[in-house]
Amino acid sequence: MTAFDFAPLLPAHLPPPAVRWPGLAKYNFTGGNNDADEVPVDDLIAAAAASLKREGRNLATYNLAHGPHGYRPLREFLVGKLKRDAGIACSADDILLLSGSSQALDLVNAALVTRGDTVICEKDNYQSTLTRFARLGAKVVGIPLDSDGMRMDALSTALADCKARGVQPKMIYTIPTVQNPTATIMPEPRRAELLRLSEEYGVAVFEDDCYSDLIWDGKRPPALYAMSKAGNVIHIGSFSKSIAPALRVGFLVAPWSIMSRILPLKTDAGSGAVEQMLLAEYCAPHFATHLPVLRKALRAKVETLMESLNEQFGTAAEFDDPKGGIFLWVKLPDNVDTLKLYQAALKEGVAINPGNDWSTDKTHSHSRLRLCFASPTHQQIREGVAVLADVCRREFGVPARSANVERARA
Ligand SMILES: Cc1ncc(COP(=O)(O)O)c(C=O)c1O
Repeated sequence: MTAFDFAPLLPAHLPPPAVRWPGLAKYNFTGGNNDADEVPVDDLIAAAAASLKREGRNLATYNLAHGPHGYRPLREFLVGKLKRDAGIACSADDILLLSGSSQALDLVNAALVTRGDTVICEKDNYQSTLTRFARLGAKVVGIPLDSDGMRMDALSTALADCKARGVQPKMIYTIPTVQNPTATIMPEPRRAELLRLSEEYGVAVFEDDCYSDLIWDGKRPPALYAMSKAGNVIHIGSFSKSIAPALRVGFLVAPWSIMSRILPLKTDAGSGAVEQMLLAEYCAPHFATHLPVLRKALRAKVETLMESLNEQFGTAAEFDDPKGGIFLWVKLPDNVDTLKLYQAALKEGVAINPGNDWSTDKTHSHSRLRLCFASPTHQQIREGVAVLADVCRREFGVPARSANVERARA
């Protein structure tokens, strides 16, 4: 077969071509993957069998005959969960089940943002959100964070600046509860201030809440969606981080005024129904008891990661002890370019996320990196960090020596 040249047929705005998947690195600190040991496989098998036996014939109908919002029992589970955990009062009709919350990012962006529009978000941010904004041709205003998340003084200044320039930003996209990549949690008073500013300037708020189940002590501030009186918030969540990302089940909560504009954009005739059925069956009896077990396992892993970094990098690696989540946002000395470190480390089997992919401010992020600790084993974490320190020392001269080398000399 000759290679047909598709190139002349492609529209100009396509993203760059994909590279072929190289497989997972031996020491993989990238991606939002979960802890394989904590996937509740037996209970998921039982849930799948029970729900398919009972309702499997409904697979003959798109959306199991539950309409475009997806499988109703899972939406009903979410109504209770969102009320209990996040303070959100909504009905099953306010919830749209999706193929991961990634699909929510596409749908909400498609509904609100067009080329040249301005969007506001945390400066350090989820890579895929930044990529999506770039692809849409949106102008992104990055707001700096402190240990309590997005800074409201900076947000206020940015909104006033937009107004002075005659620019109406479309949305404030925020990950207020275990922010990606900083793992910060925005306290309630700051959430109130964010909502006040959004209302003053007539901006929508897009709340991405997919890590909120992973706070070590289980305590979280109310969701922006719950606190909003103006109804200008769209809330999204996911089962990727609490159960398993490969299930591809996320959800969106929104008032009908915007839900009715989002639904026509979801042109896939429904997200995977078997996953929704098995999750509904599993979650009702097991979700609440599964979470503490998962959080404990993740907490143990981040402790191993922090210990390993302290041991191998000493004071050269700076980071905050996170209150939850699956990643650490690490600052290395200014002379370390984490993009180069990423390339060199990958050759040695260690995959990291270089900071520049995760920030709107390349100067601020060039010596930072994101390390995901949920999927590698404790041993892989220890070994992987040791290899990373060796590569970093070879390429950049830091850390000058690892703490365990000092100990060996003593
Ligand atoms: C902040 C944030 N939003 C959305 C997603 C998308 O997750 P999923 O599509 O698996 O629900 C991720 C995944 O890592 C994320 O970190």
